Amino acid sequence: MKLPLTRILLALGLAGALAARGADATLAIAADHPGPIINPNIYGQFSEHLGHCIYGGLWVGPESAIPNTRGYNTAVMEALRALKVPVLRWPGGCFADEYHWRDGVGPREKRPSVYNSHWGGVVEDNSFGTHEFLDMCEMLGIEPYVCVNVGSGEVHEAMEWVEYMTSDATSPMANLRRSNGRAKPWKVHFLAVGNESWGCGGAMRPEFYADNFRRYNTFIKDYQDKHLMRMACGPSEGDFAWTETLMRLAGDQLDGLSLHYYTIPSGDWSHKGSATQFGRDAYFSTLANTLNMEDLVSRHSAIMDRYDPKKRVGLAVDEWGVWTDVEPGTNPGFLFQQNSMRDAVVAALNLHIFQAHADRVQMANIAQMVNVLQAMILTENGKVVLTPTYHVFKMLNVHQGATSLPVELRTPDLPGAAQRIPLVSASASRDPAGRIHLSLVNTSPDSAATVACSVQGAATSSVSGRILTAADFTAHNTFEDPHRVEPVPFSGAALAGGKLTILLPKLSVVVLDL
Ligand code: AHR
Repeated sequence: MKLPLTRILLALGLAGALAARGADATLAIAADHPGPIINPNIYGQFSEHLGHCIYGGLWVGPESAIPNTRGYNTAVMEALRALKVPVLRWPGGCFADEYHWRDGVGPREKRPSVYNSHWGGVVEDNSFGTHEFLDMCEMLGIEPYVCVNVGSGEVHEAMEWVEYMTSDATSPMANLRRSNGRAKPWKVHFLAVGNESWGCGGAMRPEFYADNFRRYNTFIKDYQDKHLMRMACGPSEGDFAWTETLMRLAGDQLDGLSLHYYTIPSGDWSHKGSATQFGRDAYFSTLANTLNMEDLVSRHSAIMDRYDPKKRVGLAVDEWGVWTDVEPGTNPGFLFQQNSMRDAVVAALNLHIFQAHADRVQMANIAQMVNVLQAMILTENGKVVLTPTYHVFKMLNVHQGATSLPVELRTPDLPGAAQRIPLVSASASRDPAGRIHLSLVNTSPDSAATVACSVQGAATSSVSGRILTAADFTAHNTFEDPHRVEPVPFSGAALAGGKLTILLPKLSVVVLDL
């Protein structure tokens, strides 16, 4: 009888078995050469007025039969609190460049309804506006990241919004906020100046946008002790000319530059592919497409380096994630998709890429937080499902604010894939308490992978961990079966003689604490 590799290795003892057979991958963690701090905001999120992200997701309203806390969906709030979300982008997306903030303040019954022209053509009652968003962030300890309307708005409108949110003076906008029930300003440190201004945000050329950015930057004021970080609309995917032009014309004025890149499983926007009904080829192409993020971040960073060698300007990948076809029978404008073990692998691979570029990537916001695209949470009539992506974010958030540690990884490519996909991906950090965290991915849908790991410059005496895995890449959680893909304790790592040996089951994301 042929025993599976996992059983043989466990029976022999991991270290002994690896010594005899050789590891699939080797990993050296340079704890003696610490890199930059991993900005916690790399684990940021995005919430847009789109489908049921806000209405029915984050917000159900105080009159709802769904359990709520002053209108916020209680179960969703609890799940988000546990996730330690560092930063949240709002109100869009494409929606932001049609949003007029004054429609969303004041008594709710007096707020005008508006037509959401981008997403499903629905009419929204504006019951979720500035107060509701900023109060929620405050309640959950999240940094708000507000996107102002450049495309169809005006500078004056953005100026007044910033004053409304952040000024403590006796001034018209601060007084209006007080009369609407909020005495103290909120803490807002991130402001996006328009969204996708090359597309839905105004179809601008980079020269025109750069001038507009300079204009907005001139009139938007700092009202708080901390500078309000002005994040410019950056490129779509590989539009390097946009980055070049913007850095040349406005690089000295902006604090951050965004990058948007979505993983389309098929690579074809007109037939993206299903979120759960797919085979090996789609699994492989999704991974290969998501790994393009490495090239995009490197090349945009290299352009930024020429204009900003001290890396003052952060790259904010403020929209990323898997974008599939919508679930059958749902509104195509709502972008509702399921979330599988494939999404978990994609999430971990991207977080590893951002961490490897921690010197430049200061923020990333997965699209989107609830019920839209690669969501953390799905909701239905008061029921809540935590997705595999949620679990990956929660497992890997030990890296937030930790010091990155360089890793030298030697890994074969994934056998059987037409594209070059590494079998193993890894990222390491040391947190302020001195603990080393190592996250690993085995991308193989077929076999376990063994990793022989050394840690240079640090004594390691114990190892423990968690694993997220599933029998199949399509495995996902549903309202009927919400716990199918969930992390469990991991016992496949062993320390002997200062060397760490790890047995990663197929299709797995593992986080180890050393
Ligand atoms: O996240 C969905 C949409 O994708 C956003 O509104 C837009 O910015 C992007 O094109």
